[in-house]
Amino acid sequence: MNDKAFYLETFGCQMNVVDSERIVGLLNEIGYRQVEEPEQADLILLNTCAVRDKAVRKAYGHLGRFKPMKERKPDLILGMGGCIAQQEGKQLLEEFSYLDLVFGTHNVHRLPEMVQQVAEKHVRCEETEFLDRETRLQLFPSRTGQEAYTRFVTVMQGCDNFCSYCVVPYVRGRELSRPSAEILEEIRELAAQGVREVTLIGQNVNSYGLKDDGELSFAGLLEQVNAVDGIDRIRFTTSHPKDLSNDLIECFGRLDKLCKHLHLPVQCGSNNILKAMNRGYTRERYLEVVERLRQVCPEIRLSSDIIVGFPGETEADFAETMSLLEKVRYTEIYSFIYSPRRGTTAADMADETPAEVKQEQFNRMLELQEEISRQTWEADVGTIQEILVEGESKVGAGQMFGRSTWNRIVNFAGPADLAGKLVSVTITKAFRNSLLGELVG
Ligand code: 5AD
Ligand code: SF4
Repeated sequence: MNDKAFYLETFGCQMNVVDSERIVGLLNEIGYRQVEEPEQADLILLNTCAVRDKAVRKAYGHLGRFKPMKERKPDLILGMGGCIAQQEGKQLLEEFSYLDLVFGTHNVHRLPEMVQQVAEKHVRCEETEFLDRETRLQLFPSRTGQEAYTRFVTVMQGCDNFCSYCVVPYVRGRELSRPSAEILEEIRELAAQGVREVTLIGQNVNSYGLKDDGELSFAGLLEQVNAVDGIDRIRFTTSHPKDLSNDLIECFGRLDKLCKHLHLPVQCGSNNILKAMNRGYTRERYLEVVERLRQVCPEIRLSSDIIVGFPGETEADFAETMSLLEKVRYTEIYSFIYSPRRGTTAADMADETPAEVKQEQFNRMLELQEEISRQTWEADVGTIQEILVEGESKVGAGQMFGRSTWNRIVNFAGPADLAGKLVSVTITKAFRNSLLGELVG
């Protein structure tokens, strides 16, 4: 054991968040404790995202900031993991002379050994091999995160969809579902520790179990999680519209613990572009799914991801996306200007739309969505909502915060011992990123 310190920065999606929790656990085991300031660290790690160019540039920017630190302190170990590491591999060591180690998305478990090797033998190392199925199954991340009432539980990894714009299948590998028995055991243990809400995560949770004989479907898994004593709420992300089965839709009417919120990325409203994106559904089919969801669960709220400026997208295609937003009325969207990713099929498609046009469309879309979102939040004022209290709020002394079934943050005055409980709150004011309320009774 030694007494060393590490500093970790995490970029990107929940999969990276969970991997980072795992990194913290593994490094603690070899005597490294986490610090909040890079200056105090003997080891600096960046867990990176490659989904868009902006995320990649940000990671490189942060890496560059540590170069002078490394020059002052040659024993400092600098490492990069996650999706950029997976994509670039050894190349990174060639490009950045001050980088010591590179670990891929399947190699988090190798980190302790790699760190020790760099520290003791002063060698630089790289591990970005994809693992075989059996090894991956053994290595599924299990709970390492901080104590909290809400936790992520990984149910599957990887993606086989190959949407034409997306780098994920290349950097996360093939789809793999974790055995349901293990998932349920983990959730039971979490419940025993006091966790009240679980979010089941994976790149495409709806295809959970489909490729494994005898495994539960995702709807079947949800049903079992719903039966775990002590768990009050279930969420899941991300869903692919093409795999949203009728069974799964019906869960929203049937399972009392399932939150009435679904992130269902549509990406685009035009059939031409959906086809070029290789999404596997049409606009009509997507709208049909939305309608069925609303029949089964009238209170359900939806959110989405949208890409603007896909190669070949015309103003008419874009208008289809705008009209879809008006039709579906998402409570929020996460929107992105298309960013070509090396190795994806869309990267080779002709893209003639000028950047200014894409930016202007993007702004128009934000404006429309802003108005739709504002209307839905304002309609919340005066309603009574059930809130799972997560802890003390940063907004002021004596204030607590939690989330509604729709995943909006609600702040309200209340005693600290409400943490971990479900309470009723009357909503008194709506802001862009949160609601304000008063405890009922
Ligand atoms: N360009 C822009 N946005 C992208 N996304 C994925 N790949 C790209 C890309 N190349 C978006 C999608 C996805 C979200 C996580 O990121 O909308 O749902
Ligand atoms: Fe990427 Fe499509 Fe897989 Fe989502 S479903 S991770 S967008 S390839």
